[in-house]
Amino acid sequence: MSIERGRFRRLRRLRQTEGLRRLVRETRLNVEDFIYPLFVVHGRGVRREVGSMPGVYQLSVDQLGAEVEELLELGIGAVLVFGIPAQKDELASEAYDPDGIVQRTVRELKKRAPDLVVITDVCNCEYTSHGHCGIVRDGRIVNDPTLELLARTAVSHAEAGADMVAPSDMMDGRVLAIREALDRAGFIEVPILSYAAKYASAFYGPFREAAESAPAFGDRRSHQMDPGNRREALREIETDIEEGADAIIVKPALAYLDVIAAARERFEVPIAAYNVSGEYAMVKAAARNGWIDEQRVVLELLTGIRRAGAQMIITYHAKDVARWLRSGRIGTALEQALLG
Ligand code: PBG
Repeated sequence: MSIERGRFRRLRRLRQTEGLRRLVRETRLNVEDFIYPLFVVHGRGVRREVGSMPGVYQLSVDQLGAEVEELLELGIGAVLVFGIPAQKDELASEAYDPDGIVQRTVRELKKRAPDLVVITDVCNCEYTSHGHCGIVRDGRIVNDPTLELLARTAVSHAEAGADMVAPSDMMDGRVLAIREALDRAGFIEVPILSYAAKYASAFYGPFREAAESAPAFGDRRSHQMDPGNRREALREIETDIEEGADAIIVKPALAYLDVIAAARERFEVPIAAYNVSGEYAMVKAAARNGWIDEQRVVLELLTGIRRAGAQMIITYHAKDVARWLRSGRIGTALEQALLG
């Protein structure tokens, strides 16, 4: 080997020009891989910016037409729907109401854009008076009785026309309960994108403002995962796949890239990473202060998520990235190329 003869490797050779760099680049971002979250509220004419998430809005159903047009124009072909109900109660009734906010949203989206992939978040926390993901008895979230509500919710989303359901509650057995309920209702073709490895994370803070879903007492540590655990994430993912998950989510993304990478090594199902609200808010806040270059930071972060092994990215940055590409506002040719 030439290294032994006193010479050294010149890895810089392939970095000299943008042409060469582009040719040997291993990871690219594609707008097709983005899933854009939508927060939908009751009422008319509502377009309310979320304080801790600049550029993200709560929208009423009548505003969805314009939103969809914008997304499709930008090349974003998938959304993840969250609803903010009119009324919250102990049993999360609006979550599975055929005329609930998500069900109305799905019908409207599918009417306006039949090809848009409409994914629905299946959870109770936005719909319960106490803000917890399940039924609460004696101050505890009870697992098995909650499964029935989740299954009903998923079926009602499928009935409204959802292309895929995404359970985010982290109850044990929910994927199996949802799969069986969907099949029984005749929705054998509706896939489940399960939030398989979802951590009890401080990075969901801004989302809870957007979705009005902060728990009234306690926290989510009895069902969401402990941040220290990686092997347990693999067990969660394996369990969900066995129960019938067609694709899985690791969430949050940035502090859990090792989990994404390990999941990619181990499993063959498609993997999505959720680049969550707190991750978005940090970038926005620093950028507003002029402390970082937003464009470059966002592209680098999302490239890192893809490099770790996620093929889909659920991200609030989706529109910005698509727009930078569209308007040629990408600073350098390198960044242009990163977008593939
Ligand atoms: C639960 C749900 C949450 C998020 C997505 N689905 C909040 C939570 O578990 O508390 C967080 C997403 C984000 O922070 O962007 N319905």
